[in-house]
Amino acid sequence: MSRFDPVSTAPVPERAILMGVDWRDNAWPIDRSLDELERLADTAGATVVARLTQKLDRPIPKSYIGSGKVEELRGFVNRLDADVVIFDDDLSPSQQSYLERALGEPVKIIDRTALILDIFGLHARTREGRLQVQLAQLQYLLPRLRGMWSHLAKEQTRGGIGSRFGQGETQLEVDCRMIRNRISALRHELKELEKRRAVQSKWRANSPAFRVALAGYTNAGKSTVLNRLTGSDVLAQDKLFATLDPTTRSYELPGGRAITITDTVGFIQKLPHGLVEAFKSTLSEVRDSDLILKVVDISDDDRHRQIDAVEHVLREVGAGACSAVTVFNKIDLLDSDHIEALKRRFPDAVFFSALTGEGLQDLQTRIAREAAASDALVSCEIPYREGALIAAIRKQGQVLSEAFFDDHVSMVCRVPARIAARLQPFRTE
Ligand code: GTP
Repeated sequence: MSRFDPVSTAPVPERAILMGVDWRDNAWPIDRSLDELERLADTAGATVVARLTQKLDRPIPKSYIGSGKVEELRGFVNRLDADVVIFDDDLSPSQQSYLERALGEPVKIIDRTALILDIFGLHARTREGRLQVQLAQLQYLLPRLRGMWSHLAKEQTRGGIGSRFGQGETQLEVDCRMIRNRISALRHELKELEKRRAVQSKWRANSPAFRVALAGYTNAGKSTVLNRLTGSDVLAQDKLFATLDPTTRSYELPGGRAITITDTVGFIQKLPHGLVEAFKSTLSEVRDSDLILKVVDISDDDRHRQIDAVEHVLREVGAGACSAVTVFNKIDLLDSDHIEALKRRFPDAVFFSALTGEGLQDLQTRIAREAAASDALVSCEIPYREGALIAAIRKQGQVLSEAFFDDHVSMVCRVPARIAARLQPFRTE
């Protein structure tokens, strides 16, 4: 290469080795779990150069995997010049620092949680989203700081050259205090934003529009469903966790009824608990909706486990009992015999392709039916001064009969539950 050849400044992808443990009672086949971990690694910009697995009954307390496996892993790291080893399950802070020492600098040891936190960090766009991710990241980091500084602490106890600089423990204490302060500042700031969100959602709760939320495994096609229904252009990518921040769009069903649809963060197996905690306020959009569309990628062999993972998170955020409809998306990827068999097995689900639009009418009809089911039949006499309420009935409900008097209109109408509540003082029966 001549010295005038251009030198690429593009970031070089990290070389990653995946390490999975095949637990004897594993409900999820280890290969599938590692396939997903590889997609996560790819989303975070790493290249997977090898996968290792080990069969175990339970984790080894000190090293998580057996000592022979640690040796084998060390050989792989050296031979393949790996930058990072990613464990498929959570490592304790002490296991992580033990493995880091055993495999030798500069290889990094991370786990699935750290990888997911990293991706969330890359994809969060709004202020609230970024603060939520930062909080979860710092909570993850705090108990791990000790391991990071332990090499300096060891130098100090041995004495001699090298022991007089670094000030390991002191620096550790300073860092811990700084992180704790930052965590409480973030919590405070998020509380403020949560108040604002609560005001907005109260405003939405007062608006009579029927609220639909999309929930589902990452990459199930939620953003594409939103785009297909509302004609919007929310980012949809063949990447995990492409969308993190909730997006709400207004939409008019074919009969003219106005509804809102919200796209939210995708779920995943072993979603870090800290992250669910941090995202509780964002996920409250799902809990407060009138209907949840559980979007499932029907072409994925693991769809049942994905449904379980989604149910699990929904329960965790208090949305387990909300009314919901399962939407089997991506039917364009299956042959018609297969789809017919699934329709017989799941007669209550909607079959849809957000990509081609097939099944759009079924989905719209189903949402309209669910919205109508929550409506109430009301007979009332409304004074003309309640013009806004009368207009809301006409826009959001269905007037079955009406008669006009000097100072009021008498009506029998079918209206959304929220309008029915506002009609309470004017009801005649
Ligand atoms: P996250 O943001 O990760 O939660 O994903 P998401 O559920 O919002 O999925 P998204 O809409 O980003 O779609 C993921 C990938 O699936 C994209 O490559 C889409 O083009 C593709 N996709 C979505 N719907 C369909 C469909 O009906 N058929 C096919 N073949 N592909 C689809």
